[in-house]
Parts: sequence; C-alpha cells; structure tokens
Amino acid sequence: MPEVDNKESKQFYTDVPQKTEGFFLKGSNSLDWGMKNRLARIFNPDSGKTVMLAFDHGYFQGPTTGLERVDISILPLVPYADTLMLTRGILRSVIPPSATNSVVLRSSGGPSMLKELSNEQIAVDIEDAIRLNVAAITCQVFIGGEYETQSVLNMTRLVDTGTRYGIPTLAVTAVGKDMVRDARYFRLATRICAELGAHYVKTYFIEEGFETVAASCPVPIVIAGGKKIPELDALKMAYNAIQQGAAGVDMGRNIFQSESPTSMIQAVRSVVHSNETPEKAYELYHTLKNEITPN
Ligand code: 5RP
Repeated sequence: MPEVDNKESKQFYTDVPQKTEGFFLKGSNSLDWGMKNRLARIFNPDSGKTVMLAFDHGYFQGPTTGLERVDISILPLVPYADTLMLTRGILRSVIPPSATNSVVLRSSGGPSMLKELSNEQIAVDIEDAIRLNVAAITCQVFIGGEYETQSVLNMTRLVDTGTRYGIPTLAVTAVGKDMVRDARYFRLATRICAELGAHYVKTYFIEEGFETVAASCPVPIVIAGGKKIPELDALKMAYNAIQQGAAGVDMGRNIFQSESPTSMIQAVRSVVHSNETPEKAYELYHTLKNEITPN
C-alpha cells in the first residue's frame, strides 16, 4: 500500500495555463496522438524534415544494382537514416531488430517489372505492419495510369486500416514511362493523394514549378531521388526541393549507388536538416569519402 498522500503544500499552479502545443508538421494538427507520434519518428521535430533511405526497389525489380546484398550495402547506412523504407521481407531477414530507425513499410505489390506496374494490390495485412512496429505504411498511386482507380483505392484502404491503429499512410506518386513529369501533373497527383487521406506524399522534384506542387499539397511532401545522377546534382536537387517546400527526401539509388554511400547519405543529411548549400555538402561528401579511401 502506498503511503497516504495528504500533503497540504501541493503545487497546482492555478495561475499557469496548461501548454497546448501545435504539431510541427504541415496539415497534421488534427491527427490523433499515435499518428503524430509515429510521424515525429519519421520527421525530426527539431528540423521538421526527414532523410528516408529507400531500398524497397526489389519488390518489383528484384536485386537492383546496389541492392544485390542488402546486408552488405545498406546496413552501414542505417545509422545515418532517419527512416528506412523497405519491404517486410528485407526487414525481417536483414535489418537487426535493435535498429531504432522508424520504418515505412512497402505495403503494395503484385506485378513485376515485366508486367503492367500500375496493377498493384495491397500486399501486407495491417496486423503484420503492427507486429513489425512500423511508423507508416505505403503504396504507389498511379494517377493517369492504366489501373489508376485500383491504385487510388489501395491507398484509401491503407488510410482506412492504418487510421484504425494510428498508423499514417505515405502515398507514392508513380509516373508511367510515357507520362509528362511537369508541375501540372504533380500538383494533380499529390493533391489527389492528400485529398483522399494520405498523411504525407512522395513525389519527384521538377526544375520548374516544384514550389507550386509543395504549396498546393496540404500535407508534407518528400522527394524521391530517381535514377542515379552525379553526387553534386543529387545534392542540388535535394537542396532545391527543401528550399521550395519539401519536408525531406526518400532517396535510394542516389545514395546506395553512389561511389561512397556512407559519405553521400551524410552529405544529404546536411542539406536536409541543416540547410547546407549543395557545394558545402559536396565538400563534406569528398572529405568523408577521402577519410574512408584516402587518395
Ligand atoms: C519504388 C519506390 C522507391 O522507394 C523510390 O523510387 C525511391 O528510390 P529512388 O530514390 O531510387 O528513386 O518508391 O517504387
């Protein structure tokens, strides 16, 4: 039995109103506590940004260059990522459960790269996502694609089931090979995802009008890296995206296919979290790279 607490001098601070903090993420203030807590494990509450490391490519294209052995190429990068975006197969088979990064779970699948990619379905049960303690679930949304409606409804089903358990949904805007990647398209795609309930949206950076894409999407946007480009160009892309309203990157090939992936991810972090210029970040990349393999 605890002792009786009959102190007369309790501190109720009746003259101090209780603090009610707003939530730091765009468009997320009305979410429930568990949702916000998970989002705060993806987006750093100090910078409001995230560096997600994407290595889920194998779910439709098998052992992608740089991901032939995830244990060898990706594990050294894990300490530098805020969030890991991956499949449950790789999570269970390769990632140590002692890793404290938040996890965004690829929850769609079906067609391989040999077939029509927009013909995806939800491929993970919400119970398994909960069992894996993930911070968010994700699927592709193919606006303008052959199976547009099916992919949109995959997303809304993730939103509905995730919301039941406080798990946010990341919508990934997937662009068909022959489609024009311009501001008008990405405004359309990101806005549809947000309107239909996605808690944040992944899209591509575009040179012209990206700020209008970010501004017209009412929830945070992160950018995919896309195909491998020179390191300085990838850092410029990340910098421009952040300066124009992105809340982070979800980068894969431009990190794990870099000549020095651990140096690259640290350079990307400096751009995303510290607003470092691409040139300074590139210097950092070289310094770190030379420390690993001096000339
Ligand atoms: C697969 C994805 C990838 O995670 C995404 O494309 C990010 O990787 P990259 O930076 O290599 O483009 O969503 O469809």
